[in-house]
Amino acid sequence: MKKIILTGDRPTGKLHLGHFVGSLSNRIRLQDDYDQFIMIADVQALTDNADNPLKVRNNIMELALDYMAAGIDPKRSTIFIQSLIPELAELTVYFLNLVTLSRLQLNPTIKDEMKQKGYGSNIPVGFLVYPISQAADILGFKADLVPAGADQLPMIEQANEIAEKFNRIYEPVFPKVAPMMSDFSRLLGTDGQAKMSKSLGNVIYLSDSFENIKEKVMSMYTDSGHLKVSDPGKVEGNMVFYYLDVFDKDREGLEDLKNRYQKGGVGDVEVKRRLIAVLDGLLKPIREKRELLAQDKAGVMRILEEGSAKARDIVAKNLREVKKAMKIDYI
Ligand code: TRP
Repeated sequence: MKKIILTGDRPTGKLHLGHFVGSLSNRIRLQDDYDQFIMIADVQALTDNADNPLKVRNNIMELALDYMAAGIDPKRSTIFIQSLIPELAELTVYFLNLVTLSRLQLNPTIKDEMKQKGYGSNIPVGFLVYPISQAADILGFKADLVPAGADQLPMIEQANEIAEKFNRIYEPVFPKVAPMMSDFSRLLGTDGQAKMSKSLGNVIYLSDSFENIKEKVMSMYTDSGHLKVSDPGKVEGNMVFYYLDVFDKDREGLEDLKNRYQKGGVGDVEVKRRLIAVLDGLLKPIREKRELLAQDKAGVMRILEEGSAKARDIVAKNLREVKKAMKIDYI
């Protein structure tokens, strides 16, 4: 039996290079060795987008296209929509009884997000309790592993606490879930900020055109001391070299370029041209596959429907076990 991985994203925007190095490439690598479920978390997205349902709805298709174009194969991974599994919502309701308000308020991820969004005490209750809903996602599948960056670790901890409490009060239904840390945690934004993020406007999308990529790379900063081509340039802190370090597969060519740049005699445009070629080399096949898939959106929806039906069967079976343990299996 393969181990079960549960992972997913909120459908609030298109995926970008940060997602690619942080999570997508791992998912693509893992899809043969694990039973992988990839959730389009529309219910969770609504916890802070209740007044913007079309944003969530439209991004379900964008996310599915990004996944499949990047190399998630729906025959090997199950892609599904969270709201098509109402059993997850039911499980959330039972779990609500196992967590205290003060425990939720101590969740570092929630604390950060509350501050970021400036909620104060006007926080939507649904948002405050989304760690419990996320625990239901994870435990509803009896997932063994959840891939996570540092900011998702508190979510996994919360899921394990709920599982332990449930197992203690009722019956031992849930296995322990372990985080699966990716080697690459966070890609810097094109402006050098700590995170590539849509709201910071420093992203390169998987679906960006050649022109988009060119424009974004051309506006990256390099080394402010590198004024003339003949000046020696700095590689550290130079965003163009940072991205080359992450994405350029021709390591020898890159080392040679770094040496020549540091000696002086290499213009920023040459370095940027190289990065444009490297990024377009990565994104062109994704972009082309995405365009092809987008010609048959009904086909994509069918894949999500089938994935959701398969995922629902698993959660429904686990929920029956939960209800039996809770003595609410009346008929
Ligand atoms: N929290 C994830 C995000 O913000 C989405 C998500 C919801 C998720 N439920 C999950 C991820 C369960 C892993 C496991 O994108």
